[in-house]
Amino acid sequence: MTGDTVLILDLGGDQAQLTARKLRGERFFCEILPSETSADEIARRAPKGLVLAGGADGPAARQADPCAMMLGVPVLAMGCGARQMAVSLGGQLLGTQIERRTAQIAFSDSPLFDGLGESERYFDRVDSVELPEGFSPVAYAAGGLVPAFASEERKLYALQFYAESNDPDGLQMLANFAGGICGCEPWWSMEAFAERAVEDIRNTVGDESALIAISGGVDSSVCAALMYRAIGDRLKCLYINTGLMRKGETALVTATFRDALNMELVSVDAGERILKRLEGVTDPALKRGVVEEEVMRVFQDEARSIGRIDWLCQGTIYPDVLTDPGCRACGSEKLIEPIRLLFKDEVRQLGEVLGVPRELIARQPFPGPGLAVRIVGEVTREKLEMLSEADAIFREEIADAGLDRRIWQYFAILTDIRTHALRCGRTCEEYAVALRAVSSQDALLFSPYRLPYDLLERVTARITQEVPGVNRVLYDVTGRPSSSIEWE
Ligand code: XMP
Repeated sequence: MTGDTVLILDLGGDQAQLTARKLRGERFFCEILPSETSADEIARRAPKGLVLAGGADGPAARQADPCAMMLGVPVLAMGCGARQMAVSLGGQLLGTQIERRTAQIAFSDSPLFDGLGESERYFDRVDSVELPEGFSPVAYAAGGLVPAFASEERKLYALQFYAESNDPDGLQMLANFAGGICGCEPWWSMEAFAERAVEDIRNTVGDESALIAISGGVDSSVCAALMYRAIGDRLKCLYINTGLMRKGETALVTATFRDALNMELVSVDAGERILKRLEGVTDPALKRGVVEEEVMRVFQDEARSIGRIDWLCQGTIYPDVLTDPGCRACGSEKLIEPIRLLFKDEVRQLGEVLGVPRELIARQPFPGPGLAVRIVGEVTREKLEMLSEADAIFREEIADAGLDRRIWQYFAILTDIRTHALRCGRTCEEYAVALRAVSSQDALLFSPYRLPYDLLERVTARITQEVPGVNRVLYDVTGRPSSSIEWE
C-alpha cells in the first residue's frame, strides 16, 4: 500500500493494535511491526513517523532498536516505550514516582498537545528521569512529575502514559503526532483502499488467473468481491459445501454471489466425504482437524480440475497476520492476500464500498467446521438433520420476534443427553437440544442474552413437535469465565 505511513513498533500487549485502530479511525494509515524490526528495515519502509507502543518495564522487556530513534523520523514513544527512549538516548531512570494513580497534568505548547488544556488522567507508572541531552519536559504534574518529555528539535516525543486507551485526549495527541508533527496526509479510507488495492492486484496478477475458496463468511466474501473488481472473470471462486452449514446457507451464499455480485461460484458438494471422515470422531479438536484437512484435499482436487490457476487468493486479515505471521505462507508460492492489512470492521466497511450485500457482511461468526462442533459426540447424518432443523426453527422465531439484529450470536447445539420420550403412547429415547444466545462485541467478552420466556416456550414447543428425535430443549445461560460461546 503506498501513501503516507506511520509504523508502530509492537513492544507487547494490545496497545499497538489499539493505537493502529485509533490512527486509522482518523484516516492515518499505519502498520504494526514487531519490536525487533531493525532500524535499516524501518528506514527502507520510509515511514513518516514511528510509534513505540505497549510493552513491559524491566530487563525482560522487548526492546526497540535504539538506532530507530536516530533515523530523523519523528517518534512517539508511549508508556514503557517512553522510558526505553530515555535510556536508549543516554538518559537514566531515577526511580518510580507514582504508580496506578490519577493526577492533574498541564501541557507545554508543544505541537503534540495542540488544542489540549489541563486535565486529569490515569498513570500506570511515572518515573523520575534524567533526560537525555536535548530533551526537556513537555508536561507537568504536582510533585515534580514529568509525565512527558521531548526533543522538539529532533521530533522525539515520550509520554509516560498510554494515549491509545482510556485517555481523554489520546485521540487528539495521536492525530497531532501523525498529522501535525509527521505531516501525514489522512488518506486512509475504504474507498481509497479499494482503489489502491485494485491497482496493486492488477500489477501483481497481471493477465494471470486466481482461485479463491469461499466459505460464506465475511472475509472470503469481501476478498473475492475485491479481487473480482480487479481481475473480473479471471478470478475463480470455489465454494465447498461441507454439509455442515446451517439450513439454507449454501443456497443463500451461492444465490447472493450470483444475483448481487454477478459472480458465479463453482460449488462442490463434499458432504459425503467429510461425513465419512467424521465417523467415530468425538473430540471437538479432532473434528476440527478432520474437517479442515478434508476441505483442503477437496480444494486441491478441485483446483486441479478447474484448469490453469496461477494464484491462490486468501482472505487473511490483519489480526491473523499479527498473531500468526508464519502459518499463512504455506502452500502455493503465488499467494495473494489482498485484505491482509485490514481489521475486521474495516473488512465490513470495504464490503459496503464494494456493494457486498448485508446478508454476507453482517453474518454471525460461524466455526469453520460448522455444525460438526455444535454436535456433542459423534457426527451422523441423522444428528446433522436434527440440529439443522432445530437451529432453523430457533433462527426463524428470533427473526419473527424482531431480535435478529439485536442479538450478536444465537444458535442451537445438539447435546448427547438422551432421555425417555413418550410418542404416540410408546416410549423411546430422544435427544436434548441446547439453545445459546449471547451479547458481545468482539467474541472475547460476552454475556448470555436474556431471551423472553414466551419466545423460549414457542421455540421449545416447535422443536419438540417438529424435529423427530428431540424431546427436550435447554437454554444455556452460562457466561465467562467458566464457559466459552461454542460448546467445544
Ligand atoms: P468461543 O467458543 O471460543 O468462540 O467463545 C468465540 C467466537 O468465535 C467463533 N468461532 C469461530 N469463528 N471460525 C470463525 O470464523 C471458527 O473456526 C470459529 N470457531 C469459533 C464462535 O462462534 C464465537 O463467536
